[in-house]
Parts: sequence; structure tokens; C-alpha cells
Amino acid sequence: MQTSEIRTRWLDYFAKQEHHLAPSVPLVSPDKSILFTIAGMVPFIPYIVGTEPAPWPRVASVQKCIRTNDIDEVGKTTRHGTFFQMCGNFSFGDYFKQGASKMAWDLLTGSVKEGKYGLDGDKLWVTIWEQDAEAEDVWLNQIGLDPMHLQKLPREEIFWDTGQPGPAGPCAEIHFDRGSAYGPEGGPEVDTGGDRYLELWNLVFDQYLRGEGLGKDYPLLGELDKKCIDTGLGLERLAFLLQGKDNMYEIDQVFPVIEKAQELSGKHYTQGKTSKDPDDIRMRVVADHVRSALMLIGDGVRPGNDGRGYVLRRLIRRVVRAMRLLGVSKPVFPDLLPVSKQVMAASYPELDKDWQTISTVAYEEEDAFRRTLESGTLIFDQAVTRLKQRHESQLSGKDAFALHDTYGFPIDLTIEMAEEHGIQVDREKFAQLMQEQKNRAREDARAKKTGHVDARIYHELEAELGHEVEFVGYTEDSCNAKVI
Ligand code: SER
Repeated sequence: MQTSEIRTRWLDYFAKQEHHLAPSVPLVSPDKSILFTIAGMVPFIPYIVGTEPAPWPRVASVQKCIRTNDIDEVGKTTRHGTFFQMCGNFSFGDYFKQGASKMAWDLLTGSVKEGKYGLDGDKLWVTIWEQDAEAEDVWLNQIGLDPMHLQKLPREEIFWDTGQPGPAGPCAEIHFDRGSAYGPEGGPEVDTGGDRYLELWNLVFDQYLRGEGLGKDYPLLGELDKKCIDTGLGLERLAFLLQGKDNMYEIDQVFPVIEKAQELSGKHYTQGKTSKDPDDIRMRVVADHVRSALMLIGDGVRPGNDGRGYVLRRLIRRVVRAMRLLGVSKPVFPDLLPVSKQVMAASYPELDKDWQTISTVAYEEEDAFRRTLESGTLIFDQAVTRLKQRHESQLSGKDAFALHDTYGFPIDLTIEMAEEHGIQVDREKFAQLMQEQKNRAREDARAKKTGHVDARIYHELEAELGHEVEFVGYTEDSCNAKVI
């Protein structure tokens, strides 16, 4: 089943269950407290928290998401992607545990002919909160889950909240058992790697009002008047199960980019069990990041030196570097990006419409980075050679700073390149040199503002007085300042 079809089935199923279908909001989060949309519930937070009335009692969506906190895991595991799609269904004071759990079971295990996913119910496991008698009753007595497949977890492992006082509640997590090739028996409770009992779908039962407290250590102040449902199913995870693949990089929406990377590099990608081969990992990273860059640019993000722009810049740069390590030094985005667009456009037709802009932004950013790399790589390589000759394994903060200052190498690029040689970077010294540079820049700016090239005398004065001073003008034999 193609990923775009899995998506359509989701929407069709919940439309039949009288859900309003909400289009995905952009990756630029509508919630100003976060950079990116990181979950399907982000656009609905005000309705769950209750700060705005919900326009519909129930809604479903397939939300585009970006998460970069696990960027180092991308390509190495079966399921870490910087871009992914979260299928969700939500109830704002409408159906609750029973409705949400029954629909989830029905859609996952119902027949493919009837528009559902046809998973084998005997392979599903569910984890719930140990005190959630209602959920236990629903899963065991109303749905008929094998009691051996229901595991109860303590609050700290199975509660969800927004991190603030407000709604909170226990979850029911649905996992798919991929069998003994992926780890020992025993259920999700004992599967620390999460590869055998793959978490597919999280049903959050927003039931309680929580008070202040850090982590999961907060008081439950009582039951909410309006209980809500917030669920999230990983579309790529379901896709790799339904497509008989081992990982999310080999699904129909991602794999064609790996194929292109193979073709460009002449290297062979090992399909099947997710290998640890560095070239295979690089090709998975390339496929993931090209797709993320495509979707970010499509949603209006532009490369830059901070915030979202820097995330995009970093993704593009990592693609270019991974391809270089695969032996391809010519521009790669003109070959890779159209392939990703081609497979994603079935679900996101706006990519076709905006293609001219998207491709221009990506290609220009690659070109700019290639120029940066060309000037800095020689210097970097010389520094590494020197270190190796001296049998040292730390690149000095001074060298890292010179690469940054003169050749535009951001520190994480230097760190990543150094790591490939087994070399650490003296980050502390680098940070100190950066701070000194910032201080110098600040001094220069103040000097410009005051008209004085050398503003040290004022800073000394300020330090002595404990106040800022402002230059107010010259007289014949002195210059004057006033204390502010
Ligand atoms: N908020 C929950 C999650 O992100 C369910 O959507 O997993």
C-alpha cells in the first residue's frame, strides 16, 4: 500500500466517523512557542487547553512534522526521520476512551477491502497507565485484546501533557510486534530499543487538570469538565510495516532518493535489515534530509544563520557532505530534489506549483555551501594531518575559530567533519574565542555610535561607576560624558 494511500485511507475512515478533516498546517509552527510543527496536535492546542472554543467536536488530519532533536539517529535506526507525517484524530469534549480505542483497533485491524489497514490483531500490544481501569476495561472486555498483550506502566512512563499547568492524561500506546528477529520477547515494557515492539499509535486521554511541577512530577488537581482525545500515528512507521520494509527510509516516499544516490555514487545500498554500513547510513541521511529540505522550503523557510533557517541550512549541508563522502563532488540537489518532489507530490500537489521557487532556493544554497567547502576544506585537512602526525586527537579551539571566522565553517560542521576522523574539537576554547569576538564587535558598534574609535575609556568609567555613560560632545580640551 502506497504511503499516499495510507494517508487517504486515514482521512476517509475518520470522515466516515463524522470527523471534520483539517488540512495540514505548515511546518512553521502556528504555536509561537515552538519553531516547527512537531506533532499533529499542535494546531489544536487552544481547543485542548480550552483557551478557544473548538469549531468542531471531532477532527482528523495528517500533519507534516519536523523534529531535529534526534538528527544524529537519522539513518542509523529504523524510524528516526527529521520530516515525518503524523496521522491524528481528535475529540474536544466529544468521544473519549472507548470511542478512540475502538476506532483505532477497527482501522488498524479491519479489512483492506473495506478501506482499513488489515494488520494482524494478534501482533498488536497495548500499554496503558496502571491505574486506568476504564482503559483496561475497554481493551480487554470491549475490544477483546489478549490480556497477555496489555501492559500497565507507571505514570512517569505513560502520561502526556503540554508541559504547563492545564490538561494532562494517561495514554494507550499501540505497538506492533515485529518478531524475534528484532529482539527478545516480553512486550513493549521490556523493549528498550523499541525495534521489536514498534510504537505505532499513541492515544492520549486528556482527562485531568494538572498543576505546577517539573517533568511528570506535578499534582493532578481533578477531572476536566471537557475531556479531550489527541492521537498520533506515525505514517512512515505504518508504511514500512505495510510495505514489508525494515525501516522508514525504504518506503515508496523516500527510497527513490536512495536509488538516485546509488546511481550518482556508484555505491550499492544494502536493502533489508537496516545495516550499520557507513555508506548505507549516508544514503539514508541523504534521502531523509533531501525530503525535509524540500518540505521546509515548500513551506516558506529560507536558509539562514539562526532559527528555522539554520535548521534548513544544516540539512542541506549535511546532504552535500554525505554525498561527498560517497564520492560525489558535483552539485547533487539538481539530481536528488526532483526525485523527492516527484514522490511527495501525490500527497502535496503544491510542490509542483511551487517547484520553480523551491528548486532555485535549494540549488543556490548548495552552490553557496560548495564555495564555503572549497575554501575551508583544505585548511581543515591540513589541520587534521598535523594532528595525526602528532598523534593528537583534539582540534584546537583556535583552528575551529579560524575555520568559522575566515571560511564560514559553522562549528557543528567542523565538529561533524572532525568526528569522521575520530577527532574532538576544543569547544570550550572555541566558545571563548567567539565570545571575545562578540565583545569586540559590541565595542566597535558602541564606538561607532559614540563617534569614538576607542571607547575603552568609557567602559572603564562605566565599570567604576556601575552605570552606562553616554558621549555628549567635545569642548576645546576634553570630551564629555553623562551618566545614564
Ligand atoms: N500528542 C501526542 C504525541 O505527540 C499524540 O498526538 O504523541
